[in-house]
Amino acid sequence: MKDDKFIKKVITYGSFDLFHEGHYSLLQRAKALGDYLIVGVTTEHFDENRGKLNVIDSLMERIENVKKTGFADEVIIEDHVGQKVEDIQKYQIDTFAIGSDWLGNFDYLKDLCDVVYLDRTKGISSTMRREQNYKIIRLGMVGSGRIAQRFIPEAKYVSGLNVEGVYNPNIESAENFAKQHSLDFATDNEEELYEKVDAVNIASPHKTHYGYIKNALLHGKHVLCEKPMVLEKAQAEELFDLAKKQKCILMEGIKTAYIPGFIRLLSLAKSGVIGEIYDVESCFTRLTAAHLREMIDIENGGSFTEFGSYTVLAIIKLLGTDFHDIRFDSFTAENGIDTYTKAYFKYDKSIATSKTGLTVKSDGHLLISGTKGYIMVEAPWWKTKSFEICYEDFNQNEKVFTKFLGDGLRYELSDFVSTINGYRHDEFKLSKRESIALAEVMEKFLANRK
Ligand code: CTP
Repeated sequence: MKDDKFIKKVITYGSFDLFHEGHYSLLQRAKALGDYLIVGVTTEHFDENRGKLNVIDSLMERIENVKKTGFADEVIIEDHVGQKVEDIQKYQIDTFAIGSDWLGNFDYLKDLCDVVYLDRTKGISSTMRREQNYKIIRLGMVGSGRIAQRFIPEAKYVSGLNVEGVYNPNIESAENFAKQHSLDFATDNEEELYEKVDAVNIASPHKTHYGYIKNALLHGKHVLCEKPMVLEKAQAEELFDLAKKQKCILMEGIKTAYIPGFIRLLSLAKSGVIGEIYDVESCFTRLTAAHLREMIDIENGGSFTEFGSYTVLAIIKLLGTDFHDIRFDSFTAENGIDTYTKAYFKYDKSIATSKTGLTVKSDGHLLISGTKGYIMVEAPWWKTKSFEICYEDFNQNEKVFTKFLGDGLRYELSDFVSTINGYRHDEFKLSKRESIALAEVMEKFLANRK
């Protein structure tokens, strides 16, 4: 590069997903504003944090496409808020350029350099391309209870998906739900549901999951099922085999597994920042009114079937599925359901405990203890927004903050859509093996309770 003082440096940023002529034209005009163009391409993590959940091309593909234009003299990665200010100072930028859809948003950079808003190319965007490339998935709800209620507002944040209607054997309940959420149809006929949708979200009582999943898969429908997906290992294995045979996606909806903060926590914990992990403690309690399903469903109610999917998820994600011993201690109500359960897991080189409660309140934290330090995720850890990495020398402690949007369900829905469309492979977030292990734990618990 020539002497830095004599060249005019320009910087611009974007996701550049499904690269299109709008991106090309913007880069061309940005380059023309100076001698040297730096392009910041956003990471998926950064995009997720700012609520853009559906980027299709990988970071490498997006960088390659920017490079191919020949306009970028240097490509950098944008991965955190506040980075623009840092970059402008670090690279001694003269001009910050961005499309006119951002008009006014970056005026705060004017103290540091020129800010230019370039006219956006009309009639094209990555969002349009995504919609053209993939047909909108028609989703049907199975069940219209508390969890289903929370899904609809979250689904609005996920592109490529439309909630069409609802099924409930109680037609009155289905109709009320459809009316409340302006859905196209309500039905008490499963066949009618399958005729009208491509995928289902099962949010019915636990014991009905197996039957609905099987039927939906046999009709060639993709399934996202509320946790616990099933309560027997053999059932989970059978359903995953069936999904494979039917070329359908089957996903267990444990929202924590798909939340950016929890994924960040796992990768940090597993990267050795606290050394070898020896102990995991996870707790989820919610004081629950006596008339609610989890308190009166004698067969499948209780605290462990209700919240154990969260607590055991953390244990399995951190320590694996090769536990060789599980023990449960519970307090039970007169009807036999457990109102508070402590479960102990033994692994070759580590141990874990899960606490779940409906009538006992405890602190809902996740504590991961290792040979160099520990990670504390404060309540409610299952909606991971921040966590602290702590050491013997507390001056080294570090607090990590991440974004958690809305109710958190949008993340699992977004992954469901990208997995169906085949442009992202999110199995690592909750694998079949892990879902099967969760069913096995539930089965062991229920056998023990009897
Ligand atoms: N851009 C443009 N003309 C378009 C689309 C994008 O000039 N038709 C510009 C944006 O203003 C931004 C850069 O290209 O400066 C990268 O934008 P990006 O957000 O990656 O592209 P979009 O197509 O706007 O993506 P999305 O639909 O996901 O928001």
